[in-house]
Amino acid sequence: MAKKKFAGARNKKAKQNARKKTPVRVSTKGQANKVLFAASEVYPLIKTGGLADVACFLPMALRDLGYDIRIVLPAYRAVLASVHDVKVYSEMLVPDTDIRYRLLETTLPDSDVPVYLVDIPALYDRPGSPYLAEDGKDWLDNAERFGLFGRVIKLISLNQAGLNWSPALLHCNDWHTGLAAALLAQESERPAIIFAIHNLAYQGIFPYTMFDSLELADKFRSSDSLEFYGNLSFIKGGLVYADKLITVSPAYAKEIMTPAYGHGLDGLLRHRSECLSGILNGVDYRLWDPRYDPMIEQHYWLNDLHGKKINKRSLQQQVGLQEDDNAVLLAHISRLSEQKGIDLILDGLAGLLQEQQVQFVVLGTGDARYEQLLQAAAGNFAGRMAVVLDYNEVLAHRIQAGADIFLMPSRYEPCGLTQLYSLRYGTIPIVRKTGGLTDTVVDTSVATLGNQTATGFQFHDATTRDFLDAAHRAITMYRSCQSCWKQIMRTAMQQEFSWETSARQYAGEYTDVISMNFT
Ligand code: ADP
Ligand code: GLC
Repeated sequence: MAKKKFAGARNKKAKQNARKKTPVRVSTKGQANKVLFAASEVYPLIKTGGLADVACFLPMALRDLGYDIRIVLPAYRAVLASVHDVKVYSEMLVPDTDIRYRLLETTLPDSDVPVYLVDIPALYDRPGSPYLAEDGKDWLDNAERFGLFGRVIKLISLNQAGLNWSPALLHCNDWHTGLAAALLAQESERPAIIFAIHNLAYQGIFPYTMFDSLELADKFRSSDSLEFYGNLSFIKGGLVYADKLITVSPAYAKEIMTPAYGHGLDGLLRHRSECLSGILNGVDYRLWDPRYDPMIEQHYWLNDLHGKKINKRSLQQQVGLQEDDNAVLLAHISRLSEQKGIDLILDGLAGLLQEQQVQFVVLGTGDARYEQLLQAAAGNFAGRMAVVLDYNEVLAHRIQAGADIFLMPSRYEPCGLTQLYSLRYGTIPIVRKTGGLTDTVVDTSVATLGNQTATGFQFHDATTRDFLDAAHRAITMYRSCQSCWKQIMRTAMQQEFSWETSARQYAGEYTDVISMNFT
Protein backbone atom coordinates (compact mmCIF):
# COMPACT_ATOMS: atom_id res chain seq x y z
CA MET A 1 0.00 0.00 0.00
CA ALA A 2 2.63 2.48 1.17
CA LYS A 3 4.62 1.76 -1.94
CA LYS A 4 1.65 2.64 -4.16
CA LYS A 5 1.12 5.98 -2.44
CA PHE A 6 4.76 6.78 -2.84
CA ALA A 7 4.60 6.00 -6.56
CA GLY A 8 1.58 8.29 -6.91
CA ALA A 9 3.43 11.16 -5.29
CA ARG A 10 6.36 10.61 -7.58
CA ASN A 11 4.20 10.55 -10.65
CA LYS A 12 2.57 13.82 -9.66
CA LYS A 13 5.97 15.38 -9.25
CA ALA A 14 7.17 14.03 -12.59
CA LYS A 15 4.08 15.58 -14.16
CA GLN A 16 4.75 19.00 -12.66
CA ASN A 17 8.35 18.80 -13.73
CA ALA A 18 7.45 17.93 -17.31
CA ARG A 19 5.21 20.99 -17.48
CA LYS A 20 8.14 23.13 -16.42
CA LYS A 21 10.35 21.79 -19.22
CA THR A 22 11.66 24.43 -21.60
CA PRO A 23 10.97 23.88 -25.30
CA VAL A 24 13.49 21.66 -26.98
CA ARG A 25 15.56 22.94 -29.84
CA VAL A 26 17.00 20.55 -32.32
CA SER A 27 20.20 21.19 -34.18
CA THR A 28 19.46 22.18 -37.75
CA LYS A 29 22.87 20.95 -38.77
CA GLY A 30 21.58 17.37 -38.93
CA GLN A 31 19.72 16.41 -42.06
CA ALA A 32 16.40 14.75 -41.47
CA ASN A 33 17.40 11.38 -42.89
CA LYS A 34 20.38 10.90 -40.56
CA VAL A 35 19.60 8.62 -37.65
CA LEU A 36 21.84 7.17 -34.94
CA PHE A 37 20.46 3.85 -33.68
CA ALA A 38 21.87 2.84 -30.28
CA ALA A 39 21.50 -0.71 -28.96
CA SER A 40 23.28 -3.07 -26.60
CA GLU A 41 22.95 -6.08 -28.91
CA VAL A 42 22.72 -6.44 -32.68
CA TYR A 43 22.16 -9.65 -34.65
CA PRO A 44 24.28 -11.41 -35.93
CA LEU A 45 27.13 -9.74 -34.05
CA ILE A 46 25.79 -10.42 -30.56
CA LYS A 47 22.37 -11.63 -29.46
CA THR A 48 20.58 -12.62 -26.27
CA GLY A 49 16.99 -11.97 -27.41
CA GLY A 50 14.67 -10.26 -29.86
CA LEU A 51 16.23 -6.83 -29.29
CA ALA A 52 19.22 -7.99 -31.35
CA ASP A 53 16.93 -8.98 -34.24
CA VAL A 54 15.21 -5.60 -34.14
CA ALA A 55 18.54 -3.75 -33.98
CA CYS A 56 19.62 -5.47 -37.18
CA PHE A 57 16.53 -5.70 -39.36
CA LEU A 58 14.85 -2.40 -38.51
CA PRO A 59 17.91 -0.30 -39.46
CA MET A 60 18.29 -2.38 -42.63
CA ALA A 61 14.66 -1.70 -43.58
CA LEU A 62 15.04 2.01 -42.79
CA ARG A 63 18.16 2.09 -44.92
CA ASP A 64 16.07 0.68 -47.79
CA LEU A 65 13.66 3.59 -47.27
CA GLY A 66 16.52 6.03 -47.81
CA TYR A 67 17.68 6.74 -44.26
CA ASP A 68 21.35 7.29 -43.52
CA ILE A 69 21.00 5.20 -40.38
CA ARG A 70 24.03 4.09 -38.39
CA ILE A 71 24.18 1.75 -35.42
CA VAL A 72 26.26 2.16 -32.27
CA LEU A 73 27.09 -0.86 -30.09
CA PRO A 74 29.71 -1.63 -27.40
CA ALA A 75 32.77 -3.45 -28.75
CA TYR A 76 32.24 -6.68 -26.81
CA ARG A 77 34.88 -9.39 -27.18
CA ALA A 78 32.50 -11.65 -29.13
CA VAL A 79 31.79 -8.82 -31.56
CA LEU A 80 35.46 -8.00 -32.08
CA ALA A 81 36.11 -11.65 -32.82
CA SER A 82 33.49 -11.71 -35.57
CA VAL A 83 34.10 -8.49 -37.48
CA HIS A 84 36.66 -7.85 -40.23
CA ASP A 85 37.74 -4.81 -42.21
CA VAL A 86 37.34 -2.47 -39.31
CA LYS A 87 38.11 1.21 -39.72
CA VAL A 88 39.66 2.66 -36.56
CA TYR A 89 39.09 6.25 -35.48
CA SER A 90 41.68 7.81 -33.23
CA GLU A 91 41.45 7.44 -29.49
CA MET A 92 39.62 10.20 -27.66
CA LEU A 93 38.93 11.11 -24.07
CA VAL A 94 35.37 10.97 -22.73
CA PRO A 95 34.99 14.60 -21.55
CA ASP A 96 35.27 15.13 -17.79
CA THR A 97 36.70 11.64 -17.25
CA ASP A 98 40.07 10.01 -17.66
CA ILE A 99 38.56 7.26 -19.80
CA ARG A 100 39.74 6.82 -23.35
CA TYR A 101 37.64 5.28 -26.09
CA ARG A 102 38.09 4.43 -29.73
CA LEU A 103 35.37 4.11 -32.31
CA LEU A 104 35.69 1.21 -34.70
CA GLU A 105 33.58 1.23 -37.84
CA THR A 106 32.28 -1.85 -39.58
CA THR A 107 29.06 -2.71 -41.42
CA LEU A 108 26.25 -5.10 -40.64
CA PRO A 109 27.03 -8.38 -42.41
CA ASP A 110 25.41 -8.55 -45.87
CA SER A 111 24.41 -4.91 -45.76
CA ASP A 112 25.89 -1.44 -45.97
CA VAL A 113 24.50 -0.22 -42.64
CA PRO A 114 27.47 1.25 -40.73
CA VAL A 115 28.06 0.01 -37.19
CA TYR A 116 30.19 2.01 -34.75
CA LEU A 117 31.72 -0.08 -32.00
CA VAL A 118 32.58 1.77 -28.81
CA ASP A 119 35.90 0.28 -27.85
CA ILE A 120 36.83 0.57 -24.17
CA PRO A 121 38.59 -2.76 -23.53
CA ALA A 122 38.47 -2.50 -19.74
CA LEU A 123 34.67 -2.41 -19.93
CA TYR A 124 33.68 -4.53 -22.90
CA ASP A 125 36.52 -6.82 -23.90
CA ARG A 126 35.65 -9.77 -21.69
CA PRO A 127 34.01 -13.19 -21.99
CA GLY A 128 30.37 -13.84 -21.14
CA SER A 129 27.20 -12.18 -22.35
CA PRO A 130 26.74 -8.42 -22.76
CA TYR A 131 25.10 -8.25 -19.35
CA LEU A 132 26.17 -11.29 -17.36
CA ALA A 133 29.47 -12.76 -16.27
CA GLU A 134 30.16 -16.43 -16.82
CA ASP A 135 28.67 -17.22 -13.39
CA GLY A 136 25.29 -15.96 -14.67
CA LYS A 137 25.29 -12.86 -12.45
CA ASP A 138 25.19 -9.26 -13.69
CA TRP A 139 28.60 -7.73 -14.34
CA LEU A 140 29.31 -5.72 -11.20
CA ASP A 141 30.28 -2.66 -13.22
CA ASN A 142 27.23 -2.58 -15.51
CA ALA A 143 26.43 1.00 -14.39
CA GLU A 144 29.88 2.14 -15.57
CA ARG A 145 29.71 0.00 -18.71
CA PHE A 146 26.39 1.38 -19.92
CA GLY A 147 26.97 4.79 -18.35
CA LEU A 148 30.05 5.25 -20.53
CA PHE A 149 28.19 3.80 -23.51
CA GLY A 150 25.55 6.52 -22.95
CA ARG A 151 28.17 9.26 -22.80
CA VAL A 152 29.73 8.15 -26.07
CA ILE A 153 26.32 7.90 -27.74
CA LYS A 154 25.74 11.50 -26.71
CA LEU A 155 29.09 12.56 -28.22
CA ILE A 156 28.28 10.89 -31.54
CA SER A 157 24.79 12.44 -31.51
CA LEU A 158 26.33 15.89 -31.15
CA ASN A 159 28.96 15.24 -33.81
CA GLN A 160 31.68 15.46 -31.17
CA ALA A 161 33.23 12.05 -31.76
CA GLY A 162 35.31 12.85 -34.81
CA LEU A 163 32.94 11.27 -37.36
CA ASN A 164 31.92 14.46 -39.14
CA TRP A 165 28.31 13.30 -39.14
CA SER A 166 25.33 15.02 -37.47
CA PRO A 167 22.24 12.90 -36.95
CA ALA A 168 18.84 14.58 -36.81
CA LEU A 169 17.56 11.87 -34.50
CA LEU A 170 18.84 9.48 -31.85
CA HIS A 171 16.87 6.23 -31.61
CA CYS A 172 17.59 4.63 -28.20
CA ASN A 173 16.63 1.08 -27.23
CA ASP A 174 15.96 -0.13 -23.69
CA TRP A 175 17.67 0.84 -20.45
CA HIS A 176 21.23 0.40 -21.70
CA THR A 177 20.78 3.61 -23.69
CA GLY A 178 18.63 5.51 -21.17
CA LEU A 179 21.46 7.64 -19.86
CA ALA A 180 22.28 8.79 -23.38
CA ALA A 181 18.74 10.20 -23.67
CA ALA A 182 18.97 11.97 -20.30
CA LEU A 183 22.38 13.51 -21.03
CA LEU A 184 21.57 14.54 -24.57
CA ALA A 185 18.27 16.15 -23.53
CA GLN A 186 20.24 18.70 -21.49
CA GLU A 187 21.75 20.19 -24.63
CA SER A 188 20.07 23.26 -26.11
CA GLU A 189 21.01 22.26 -29.67
CA ARG A 190 20.50 18.58 -30.16
CA PRO A 191 18.89 15.89 -32.31
CA ALA A 192 15.40 14.63 -31.52
CA ILE A 193 15.28 11.59 -29.25
CA ILE A 194 13.12 8.49 -29.58
CA PHE A 195 13.27 5.87 -26.84
CA ALA A 196 12.06 2.38 -27.74
CA ILE A 197 10.82 0.13 -24.94
CA HIS A 198 11.40 -3.53 -25.72
CA ASN A 199 10.94 -4.79 -22.20
CA LEU A 200 9.91 -2.58 -19.29
CA ALA A 201 10.83 -5.24 -16.74
CA TYR A 202 14.53 -4.64 -17.32
CA GLN A 203 15.23 -1.16 -15.97
CA GLY A 204 18.95 -0.80 -15.20
CA ILE A 205 18.55 -0.10 -11.49
CA PHE A 206 21.74 0.67 -9.54
CA PRO A 207 22.53 1.86 -6.01
CA TYR A 208 22.12 5.56 -5.32
CA THR A 209 25.89 5.89 -4.84
CA MET A 210 26.26 5.46 -8.59
CA PHE A 211 25.03 9.04 -9.05
CA ASP A 212 28.39 10.03 -7.52
CA SER A 213 30.46 7.34 -9.23
CA LEU A 214 29.06 8.32 -12.63
CA GLU A 215 29.40 12.01 -11.76
CA LEU A 216 25.84 12.75 -12.71
CA ALA A 217 24.67 16.31 -12.16
CA ASP A 218 22.48 17.02 -9.12
CA LYS A 219 19.40 17.64 -11.24
CA PHE A 220 19.31 13.95 -12.15
CA ARG A 221 19.01 12.88 -8.52
CA SER A 222 15.37 13.73 -7.99
CA SER A 223 12.39 11.42 -8.30
CA ASP A 224 11.14 13.33 -11.33
CA SER A 225 14.43 12.49 -13.01
CA LEU A 226 16.57 9.36 -12.65
CA GLU A 227 15.94 8.50 -9.01
CA PHE A 228 13.66 5.51 -8.45
CA TYR A 229 12.85 4.30 -4.93
CA GLY A 230 16.23 5.35 -3.60
CA ASN A 231 18.19 4.01 -6.56
CA LEU A 232 19.47 5.21 -9.91
CA SER A 233 17.26 4.08 -12.82
CA PHE A 234 18.72 4.13 -16.31
CA ILE A 235 15.42 3.43 -18.04
CA LYS A 236 13.93 6.59 -16.56
CA GLY A 237 16.50 8.51 -18.59
CA GLY A 238 14.63 7.41 -21.70
CA LEU A 239 11.11 7.53 -20.27
CA VAL A 240 11.45 11.03 -18.77
CA TYR A 241 13.64 12.76 -21.35
CA ALA A 242 12.94 11.29 -24.80
CA ASP A 243 10.72 13.35 -27.11
CA LYS A 244 8.80 10.24 -28.12
CA LEU A 245 8.37 6.77 -26.60
CA ILE A 246 7.68 3.81 -28.84
CA THR A 247 7.08 0.29 -27.70
CA VAL A 248 6.94 -2.83 -29.80
CA SER A 249 3.18 -3.42 -30.03
CA PRO A 250 0.06 -1.29 -29.67
CA ALA A 251 -1.36 -3.61 -26.99
CA TYR A 252 1.80 -3.43 -24.85
CA ALA A 253 1.74 0.38 -25.19
CA LYS A 254 -1.65 0.32 -23.46
CA GLU A 255 -0.72 -2.36 -20.93
CA ILE A 256 2.35 -0.58 -19.58
CA MET A 257 0.19 2.34 -18.53
CA THR A 258 -1.53 0.03 -16.02
CA PRO A 259 -0.17 -1.07 -12.62
CA ALA A 260 -0.34 -4.73 -13.64
CA TYR A 261 2.23 -4.28 -16.42
CA GLY A 262 3.90 -0.98 -15.52
CA HIS A 263 6.63 -2.32 -13.21
CA GLY A 264 6.22 0.80 -11.06
CA LEU A 265 6.52 3.13 -14.07
CA ASP A 266 2.89 3.15 -15.20
CA GLY A 267 2.20 6.55 -13.62
CA LEU A 268 5.05 8.15 -15.52
CA LEU A 269 3.95 6.41 -18.72
CA ARG A 270 0.35 7.52 -18.27
CA HIS A 271 1.62 11.03 -17.89
CA ARG A 272 3.57 10.65 -21.13
CA SER A 273 0.72 8.86 -22.91
CA GLU A 274 0.53 11.46 -25.66
CA CYS A 275 4.11 10.67 -26.62
CA LEU A 276 3.72 6.89 -26.32
CA SER A 277 2.69 4.57 -29.14
CA GLY A 278 3.25 1.00 -30.31
CA ILE A 279 4.72 -0.31 -33.55
CA LEU A 280 4.89 -4.05 -34.14
CA ASN A 281 8.20 -5.70 -34.87
CA GLY A 282 8.64 -7.53 -38.15
CA VAL A 283 10.15 -10.71 -39.50
CA ASP A 284 12.98 -11.04 -41.97
CA TYR A 285 11.25 -13.47 -44.32
CA ARG A 286 14.51 -14.00 -46.21
CA LEU A 287 15.58 -16.02 -43.15
CA TRP A 288 12.25 -17.27 -41.85
CA ASP A 289 10.17 -18.80 -44.62
CA PRO A 290 9.51 -22.52 -45.18
CA ARG A 291 9.72 -22.01 -48.95
CA TYR A 292 13.39 -21.02 -48.87
CA ASP A 293 14.82 -21.82 -45.43
CA PRO A 294 18.16 -23.60 -46.06
CA MET A 295 18.24 -24.99 -42.52
CA ILE A 296 15.17 -27.22 -42.81
CA GLU A 297 14.84 -30.71 -44.25
CA GLN A 298 12.06 -30.03 -46.74
CA HIS A 299 10.62 -26.82 -48.15
CA TYR A 300 6.83 -26.50 -48.14
CA TRP A 301 4.05 -24.04 -48.74
CA LEU A 302 0.28 -23.67 -48.84
CA ASN A 303 -0.44 -26.34 -51.40
CA ASP A 304 2.22 -28.76 -50.29
CA LEU A 305 1.74 -29.08 -46.56
CA HIS A 306 2.96 -32.65 -46.72
CA GLY A 307 6.49 -31.19 -46.61
CA LYS A 308 5.82 -30.26 -43.00
CA LYS A 309 5.38 -33.93 -42.12
CA ILE A 310 8.85 -34.67 -43.50
CA ASN A 311 10.28 -31.93 -41.28
CA LYS A 312 8.37 -33.38 -38.35
CA ARG A 313 9.82 -36.83 -38.87
CA SER A 314 13.31 -35.41 -39.20
CA LEU A 315 12.90 -33.32 -36.02
CA GLN A 316 11.60 -36.32 -34.07
CA GLN A 317 14.69 -38.26 -35.13
CA GLN A 318 17.06 -35.42 -34.31
CA VAL A 319 15.81 -34.74 -30.77
CA GLY A 320 15.02 -38.33 -29.82
CA LEU A 321 11.22 -38.35 -29.96
CA GLN A 322 9.26 -41.39 -31.15
CA GLU A 323 8.89 -41.22 -34.93
CA ASP A 324 5.16 -40.93 -35.22
CA ASP A 325 3.40 -39.00 -37.99
CA ASN A 326 0.16 -38.96 -36.07
CA ALA A 327 1.51 -37.51 -32.85
CA VAL A 328 0.67 -33.84 -32.19
CA LEU A 329 4.06 -32.22 -31.74
CA LEU A 330 4.10 -29.19 -29.41
CA ALA A 331 7.13 -26.89 -29.18
CA HIS A 332 8.53 -24.04 -27.13
CA ILE A 333 11.63 -21.91 -27.79
CA SER A 334 12.67 -19.16 -25.40
CA ARG A 335 15.04 -17.64 -22.87
CA LEU A 336 13.33 -19.85 -20.23
CA SER A 337 12.42 -16.93 -17.99
CA GLU A 338 9.35 -16.29 -15.88
CA GLN A 339 8.16 -13.83 -18.53
CA LYS A 340 7.66 -16.67 -20.99
CA GLY A 341 5.22 -18.55 -18.71
CA ILE A 342 7.44 -21.60 -18.62
CA ASP A 343 5.98 -22.38 -15.18
CA LEU A 344 2.52 -22.71 -16.76
CA ILE A 345 3.94 -25.19 -19.24
CA LEU A 346 5.64 -27.15 -16.45
CA ASP A 347 2.47 -27.22 -14.35
CA GLY A 348 0.40 -28.27 -17.34
CA LEU A 349 2.78 -30.94 -18.64
CA ALA A 350 1.09 -33.91 -17.04
CA GLY A 351 -2.26 -32.65 -18.35
CA LEU A 352 -0.85 -32.27 -21.86
CA LEU A 353 1.14 -35.46 -22.09
CA GLN A 354 -1.43 -37.69 -20.41
CA GLU A 355 -3.04 -37.98 -23.82
CA GLN A 356 -1.42 -40.54 -26.04
CA GLN A 357 0.32 -39.26 -29.15
CA VAL A 358 1.12 -35.84 -27.79
CA GLN A 359 4.80 -34.90 -27.90
CA PHE A 360 6.70 -31.85 -26.71
CA VAL A 361 10.08 -30.36 -27.62
CA VAL A 362 11.69 -27.43 -25.77
CA LEU A 363 14.71 -25.45 -26.89
CA GLY A 364 16.11 -22.82 -24.56
CA THR A 365 18.58 -21.66 -21.99
CA GLY A 366 17.93 -19.44 -19.04
CA ASP A 367 16.77 -19.74 -15.47
CA ALA A 368 18.62 -22.71 -13.93
CA ARG A 369 15.50 -23.67 -11.94
CA TYR A 370 13.44 -24.12 -15.10
CA GLU A 371 16.27 -25.91 -16.87
CA GLN A 372 16.39 -28.51 -14.08
CA LEU A 373 12.61 -28.93 -13.89
CA LEU A 374 12.37 -29.40 -17.65
CA GLN A 375 15.13 -31.97 -17.69
CA ALA A 376 13.52 -33.88 -14.84
CA ALA A 377 10.18 -33.85 -16.66
CA ALA A 378 11.78 -35.13 -19.86
CA GLY A 379 13.02 -38.12 -17.85
CA ASN A 380 9.41 -38.94 -16.94
CA PHE A 381 8.18 -38.80 -20.53
CA ALA A 382 10.98 -40.53 -22.42
CA GLY A 383 10.40 -40.55 -26.16
CA ARG A 384 7.56 -38.03 -25.83
CA MET A 385 9.34 -35.03 -24.43
CA ALA A 386 12.71 -33.67 -25.55
CA VAL A 387 14.59 -30.84 -23.87
CA VAL A 388 17.54 -29.14 -25.54
CA LEU A 389 19.19 -26.69 -23.17
CA ASP A 390 21.09 -24.70 -25.72
CA TYR A 391 21.03 -21.59 -27.86
CA ASN A 392 20.83 -23.09 -31.33
CA GLU A 393 19.65 -21.11 -34.35
CA VAL A 394 19.55 -24.07 -36.71
CA LEU A 395 17.48 -26.16 -34.35
CA ALA A 396 15.14 -23.19 -33.80
CA HIS A 397 14.40 -23.22 -37.56
CA ARG A 398 13.97 -26.99 -37.63
CA ILE A 399 11.55 -26.88 -34.70
CA GLN A 400 9.49 -24.14 -36.34
CA ALA A 401 9.31 -26.28 -39.48
CA GLY A 402 8.66 -29.63 -37.80
CA ALA A 403 6.29 -28.90 -34.92
CA ASP A 404 2.49 -28.66 -35.19
CA ILE A 405 1.82 -26.25 -32.33
CA PHE A 406 3.92 -23.51 -30.75
CA LEU A 407 3.39 -22.76 -27.04
CA MET A 408 3.83 -19.16 -25.94
CA PRO A 409 1.95 -18.68 -22.66
CA SER A 410 3.83 -15.48 -21.76
CA ARG A 411 2.93 -13.58 -18.59
CA TYR A 412 3.69 -10.47 -20.58
CA GLU A 413 5.09 -10.11 -24.10
CA PRO A 414 6.04 -6.69 -25.48
CA CYS A 415 5.94 -8.04 -29.04
CA GLY A 416 7.41 -11.52 -29.40
CA LEU A 417 9.10 -12.74 -32.54
CA THR A 418 8.87 -16.50 -32.16
CA GLN A 419 5.09 -16.55 -32.62
CA LEU A 420 5.57 -14.53 -35.82
CA TYR A 421 7.98 -17.17 -37.09
CA SER A 422 5.63 -19.96 -36.08
CA LEU A 423 2.76 -18.35 -38.00
CA ARG A 424 4.84 -18.32 -41.18
CA TYR A 425 5.75 -22.00 -40.71
CA GLY A 426 2.12 -23.01 -40.09
CA THR A 427 3.04 -24.06 -36.55
CA ILE A 428 -0.11 -22.88 -34.84
CA PRO A 429 0.59 -20.68 -31.82
CA ILE A 430 -1.17 -21.06 -28.48
CA VAL A 431 -0.63 -17.73 -26.77
CA ARG A 432 -1.72 -15.80 -23.73
CA LYS A 433 -3.73 -12.75 -24.76
CA THR A 434 -1.14 -10.15 -23.84
CA GLY A 435 0.99 -7.51 -25.58
CA GLY A 436 2.17 -8.38 -29.06
CA LEU A 437 0.52 -11.79 -28.82
CA THR A 438 -2.86 -10.05 -28.68
CA ASP A 439 -1.99 -8.02 -31.75
CA THR A 440 -0.58 -10.79 -33.92
CA VAL A 441 -2.61 -13.95 -33.28
CA VAL A 442 -6.32 -14.33 -34.04
CA ASP A 443 -8.10 -16.78 -31.74
CA THR A 444 -9.96 -19.68 -33.31
CA SER A 445 -13.73 -19.53 -32.84
CA VAL A 446 -16.77 -20.40 -34.89
CA ALA A 447 -16.76 -16.84 -36.20
CA THR A 448 -13.05 -16.65 -37.09
CA LEU A 449 -13.08 -20.09 -38.67
CA GLY A 450 -16.10 -18.98 -40.67
CA ASN A 451 -14.52 -15.80 -41.95
CA GLN A 452 -11.13 -17.49 -42.36
CA THR A 453 -9.19 -15.18 -40.04
CA ALA A 454 -8.27 -17.71 -37.31
CA THR A 455 -4.50 -18.13 -36.91
CA GLY A 456 -4.06 -19.59 -33.43
CA PHE A 457 -5.48 -20.08 -29.95
CA GLN A 458 -5.53 -17.46 -27.21
CA PHE A 459 -6.28 -17.67 -23.48
CA HIS A 460 -6.82 -14.89 -20.97
CA ASP A 461 -5.47 -15.57 -17.51
CA ALA A 462 -1.96 -16.71 -16.65
CA THR A 463 -3.31 -19.88 -15.02
CA THR A 464 -2.56 -23.49 -15.82
CA ARG A 465 -6.29 -24.06 -16.26
CA ASP A 466 -6.72 -21.40 -18.94
CA PHE A 467 -3.55 -22.52 -20.67
CA LEU A 468 -4.66 -26.16 -20.71
CA ASP A 469 -8.13 -25.22 -21.95
CA ALA A 470 -6.58 -23.50 -24.97
CA ALA A 471 -4.16 -26.38 -25.54
CA HIS A 472 -6.98 -28.93 -25.43
CA ARG A 473 -9.06 -26.83 -27.81
CA ALA A 474 -6.17 -26.84 -30.24
CA ILE A 475 -5.34 -30.54 -29.90
CA THR A 476 -9.01 -31.49 -30.29
CA MET A 477 -9.29 -29.43 -33.45
CA TYR A 478 -6.08 -30.94 -34.83
CA ARG A 479 -7.47 -34.43 -34.29
CA SER A 480 -11.11 -33.93 -35.17
CA CYS A 481 -11.04 -31.58 -38.14
CA GLN A 482 -7.96 -31.77 -40.33
CA SER A 483 -9.56 -29.51 -42.94
CA CYS A 484 -10.17 -26.81 -40.28
CA TRP A 485 -6.58 -27.21 -39.10
CA LYS A 486 -5.19 -26.86 -42.61
CA GLN A 487 -7.28 -23.75 -43.11
CA ILE A 488 -5.82 -22.23 -39.91
CA MET A 489 -2.33 -23.18 -41.08
CA ARG A 490 -2.82 -21.56 -44.47
CA THR A 491 -4.24 -18.37 -42.98
CA ALA A 492 -1.37 -18.23 -40.47
CA MET A 493 1.26 -18.79 -43.15
CA GLN A 494 -0.08 -15.91 -45.23
CA GLN A 495 0.18 -13.32 -42.45
CA GLU A 496 2.66 -10.57 -43.29
CA PHE A 497 4.64 -8.89 -40.54
CA SER A 498 7.32 -7.43 -42.72
CA TRP A 499 10.03 -5.08 -41.52
CA GLU A 500 9.14 -2.77 -44.36
CA THR A 501 5.74 -2.11 -42.79
CA SER A 502 7.29 -1.46 -39.37
CA ALA A 503 10.00 0.73 -40.88
CA ARG A 504 7.42 2.88 -42.67
CA GLN A 505 5.66 3.47 -39.36
CA TYR A 506 8.94 4.38 -37.65
CA ALA A 507 9.71 6.71 -40.55
CA GLY A 508 6.40 8.47 -39.88
CA GLU A 509 7.33 8.89 -36.22
CA TYR A 510 10.81 10.14 -37.17
CA THR A 511 9.30 12.79 -39.44
CA ASP A 512 6.84 13.90 -36.78
CA VAL A 513 9.32 14.11 -33.96
CA ILE A 514 11.96 15.88 -36.01
CA SER A 515 9.53 18.48 -37.35
CA MET A 516 7.90 18.89 -33.94
CA ASN A 517 11.20 19.82 -32.41
CA PHE A 518 12.24 22.27 -35.10
CA THR A 519 9.44 24.65 -34.14
P1 ADP B 1 12.67 -12.16 -26.24
O1 ADP B 1 13.35 -11.04 -26.90
O2 ADP B 1 11.78 -11.76 -25.11
O3 ADP B 1 13.60 -13.26 -25.85
P2 ADP B 1 11.45 -12.65 -28.84
O4 ADP B 1 10.40 -13.63 -29.23
O5 ADP B 1 11.24 -11.24 -29.21
O6 ADP B 1 11.64 -12.81 -27.28
O7 ADP B 1 12.84 -13.02 -29.49
C1 ADP B 1 13.53 -14.18 -29.17
C2 ADP B 1 14.56 -14.41 -30.24
O8 ADP B 1 15.56 -15.28 -29.74
C3 ADP B 1 14.00 -15.09 -31.46
O9 ADP B 1 14.76 -14.69 -32.58
C4 ADP B 1 14.21 -16.58 -31.14
O10 ADP B 1 14.24 -17.39 -32.28
C5 ADP B 1 15.53 -16.53 -30.45
N1 ADP B 1 15.78 -17.58 -29.47
C6 ADP B 1 15.38 -17.62 -28.17
N2 ADP B 1 15.86 -18.71 -27.55
C7 ADP B 1 16.57 -19.37 -28.48
C8 ADP B 1 17.32 -20.59 -28.45
N3 ADP B 1 17.43 -21.32 -27.35
N4 ADP B 1 17.95 -20.97 -29.58
C9 ADP B 1 17.85 -20.23 -30.71
N5 ADP B 1 17.16 -19.08 -30.79
C10 ADP B 1 16.53 -18.66 -29.69
C1 GLC C 1 11.95 -7.99 -25.78
C2 GLC C 1 10.57 -8.59 -25.61
C3 GLC C 1 10.00 -9.23 -26.85
C4 GLC C 1 10.27 -8.40 -28.08
C5 GLC C 1 11.75 -8.10 -28.17
C6 GLC C 1 12.11 -7.25 -29.37
O1 GLC C 1 12.97 -8.84 -25.47
O2 GLC C 1 10.54 -9.51 -24.53
O3 GLC C 1 8.60 -9.41 -26.68
O4 GLC C 1 9.84 -9.07 -29.23
O5 GLC C 1 12.16 -7.38 -27.04
O6 GLC C 1 11.40 -6.04 -29.40
